[in-house]
Formats: sequence, C-alpha cells, structure tokens
Amino acid sequence: MGLTPVLTKRFGTNQPWRIDNYEALDGYAGLRKALTMTPDEVISVVKESTLRGRGGAGFPTGMKWQFIPQNDGKPHYVVVNADEGEPGTCRDLPLMMNDPHSALEGIIIACYAVRAQSAFVYIRGEAIHAIRRMAQAVDEARAKGYLGKNVLGSGLDFDIVIHSGAGAYICGEETALLDSLEGKRGQPRLKPPFPATNGLYDAPTVVNNVGTLACVPYILLGGSGWWKKMGPEGSPGTCIYSLSGRVTNPGQYEAPMGTTLRELLEMAGGVREGHELKFWTPGGSSTPMFGVEHLDVALDFDSVAKAGSMNGTSAVMIFDESDSVPVAVMKWTEFYHHESCGKCTPCREGNYWMAQALRRVVYGGATMEDLDTLIDVCDNVLGRSFCALGDGATSSITSGLTLFRSEFEDAVANGGVPGYAGRARTLVGAH
Ligand SMILES: Cc1cc2nc3c(=O)[nH]c(=O)nc-3n(C[C@H](O)[C@H](O)[C@H](O)COP(=O)(O)O)c2cc1C
Ligand code: SF4
Repeated sequence: MGLTPVLTKRFGTNQPWRIDNYEALDGYAGLRKALTMTPDEVISVVKESTLRGRGGAGFPTGMKWQFIPQNDGKPHYVVVNADEGEPGTCRDLPLMMNDPHSALEGIIIACYAVRAQSAFVYIRGEAIHAIRRMAQAVDEARAKGYLGKNVLGSGLDFDIVIHSGAGAYICGEETALLDSLEGKRGQPRLKPPFPATNGLYDAPTVVNNVGTLACVPYILLGGSGWWKKMGPEGSPGTCIYSLSGRVTNPGQYEAPMGTTLRELLEMAGGVREGHELKFWTPGGSSTPMFGVEHLDVALDFDSVAKAGSMNGTSAVMIFDESDSVPVAVMKWTEFYHHESCGKCTPCREGNYWMAQALRRVVYGGATMEDLDTLIDVCDNVLGRSFCALGDGATSSITSGLTLFRSEFEDAVANGGVPGYAGRARTLVGAH
C-alpha cells in the first residue's frame, strides 16, 4: 500500500487554509450534498461507511450519532476533541493548520445529522497557532454563509465556538473535556450516563475527534462504497499515520488503514541511516510497544488488537538499537504520573510507585524485586482505574518487560542504564 492523500490532499498546495482555495477543491460540496438529504440519511451514509473514531478507541461514528435521542426537546451539541495530547501524536494539529475548513465542514455536517445548532472545538492551549487558524476559518465560513443564521438557505442555524484548553492530557478524555468546557476542573465523569444522553450541560452530545469529523465531507461526496474500498472491512478508509523518532523523514503519512510499518518505513526513507529498528509504538505511548517481529502487522484497529496492542492514535514512534527501553518506559511513566488527574487511587498512587521503581532501574538502586513489583502494580492499575489513562499508563511497562526483560535486568545488575546511572533528577509530579 502507498500514500493515499484524501484528508491531506490539500497539504502543500497554495494557502490551503483559505476558504477560496478550499472551495476550489470540492470544499463545502459535502455540506451542500448533506443538506439535500435528511439528517437520518446522513447518519446512514456515515454508518454504512464503517468510519471509526480516530481519537483512539475506534468507536463507529455513525452508531455514535445514532445514539443521540431525537425529538426530545433538548438542545443537542457537537463537541470536537482537538486536544491531541497522546505522546507521539501529530496529525490533528497539521490537519487544522493545513485544512481547517475540512474539519469545519465535517462539524457542520455532524451538527445537521444530530440536530445540533452549536459545536465547540476544544483545542489544547499550547497550540495557539491552531486556535488562531481555526478561529480565522470560522470567521471565513460565517462570512460565506456556511455558519450563522439560515445556512445555505436551509432555514437552519449552526455556529462553532473555538475553545482553548489549558494543556492537561486528561482533558482529552471526553468527559473530562466536557467538565473543562463547562468551566469545571477537568476530571472524568462516571459513565453511564454517556455523553450521548447527558453530555455538555447535561444535554445529548456527540464527542468526536477532529480528524474523525474531517473524514465526513469526503465520505458524503465519494459515498460509503468508495470509502470502504480503502483498508480492511472492519476499519476502512485512510489513516494519517504520524511517524516520529529514529526515522529518516518523520511526518504525516496518509495511507489506507491496515498499512504495515514496513510499508510506512519505505515511504519515510527507512530507519535513520546506519541504524536498525528496535522497538516502536503503533498508536502512541498508551499502546503496548511492538518489536521487529511486528513489522508486518496491518495497522488497523482489529489487526493491531489481535497482535496484542492498539491502533490508538496511529502515532508510530520509532526507536533504534541506540535507544534504551527502560529509559523510554520511565519517561512515559513520568508523563502519566504527571498527568494523572488524581481522582482515583490506583492511577494516582500506582503511577507514583511505578515511576519511582523505573527511576531506580534507570538511575541506579533497583533490585530484581522491583521488576516484579512493577508488574504487580500494573496488575492493580489496569482495569481498576476510573478512566483509560490508568490502563494506558501500564502498556509500555508490561509490554517492555515482556519483550525486553533482559534489558531491565541488565540495568538493575549494572546499577542503572549507561549514561543515566547516578544522574537522578527530582521526580516532578502533579500531586
Ligand atoms: C487520557 C485520555 C486522553 C485522551 N485524549 C484524546 C485526545 O487528545 N483527542 C481525542 O480525540 N481523543 C482523546 N481521547 C479519547 C476520547 O475520550 C474519545 O474517545 C474521543 O474523543 C472520541 O472521538 P472519536 O470517536 O472520534 O474517536 C482520550 C482518552 C483518554 C482516556
Ligand atoms: S485513571 Fe488517572 S486520570 Fe483517570 S480518573 Fe483515575 S486518576 Fe484520573
């Protein structure tokens, strides 16, 4: 499989973020088509396409839209997750920077389908450039009649608010995001009830990743059959894989779902010259790591799960033989310790203890017992945490110890990882 630009087809063209340039390349044609259909018909097309959410969990988008109760007399909302906090992930920001109108068009279509008038786009606060670009695109779309009153003469009103987060990873979790949007401290809510019935301001709400919604205009224009021709049956379409780390040409590579790392590396010029692949993540740091033996795993939701990991955010982080597994795992665990919101004990305490044990492995002072303790703590965090942050925090530890246990044992036996031993810094934590 090779490069298949659909969402990225405007990347690199002349100022693709300008509405005139967007319109010149099929821009807003998907919305025009949607408005000739009933909202239920729009949901059916998205359902038939088998589009699955790009935010991490891969939930079927059409089904999510169908859960929104109809004729309930309540306002409905579309909330767009553009928080993009998963380490290694870099595709929502390039999408919003290059092609903000494709996201807006998908959002307006989603509003039409679920009978919402208002959408909120939650963008991480550090991404000032993306916030400005999206806000400018909203102004352009409003000036051209795609937003505001009586959109394209449909008699319907739609509006989009661009909201800046404050850089907390947990605010990417959909219910923490809703609390944050409501002005509260961003912590996950107990589910059920789910956002489909009790979301923003307790009203029916669809929460979708911005990249998921950017697929929708193309599906409406090209049809669900066209979309399903790309990628495997269970998770079709294209995917923007973000390649980072020890790769010759890091960046965004859009290819059919189910592309393998071997194929992606061919597109990206391979592992950096003179070096060899050692380990990699298929979907960000919350997904169990893979080794060289996984080069030919099809990178789609079902195949990656079958191989023991998760497609997650398709953030492919590549490491070579010069990289230490214990160091990478320690740094990721420090991240989860720092970002744990503190609401539940397994994650709040577990990440603290896991980070401490890993720091002993890397900087010195660990015993072999620490490795068993790490597995034991992971067992107590996985499946016992209030939200998926806790589960994800254990992924790199358990997979790292499964695939590369001898490297951890060597570090323990040698008093730390060479280059790190004896250099411990203070653990910076949230609690
Ligand atoms: C700790 C945590 C962080 C998350 N961060 C993001 C994020 O930054 N962006 C995102 O779209 N989804 C994120 N998610 C997933 C969302 O909770 C949710 O599944 C997603 O927004 C649904 O959209 P989709 O169906 O289009 O994938 C995160 C989940 C967890 C548990
Ligand atoms: S798992 Fe972690 S991030 Fe999620 S609610 Fe518990 S403490 Fe907060």
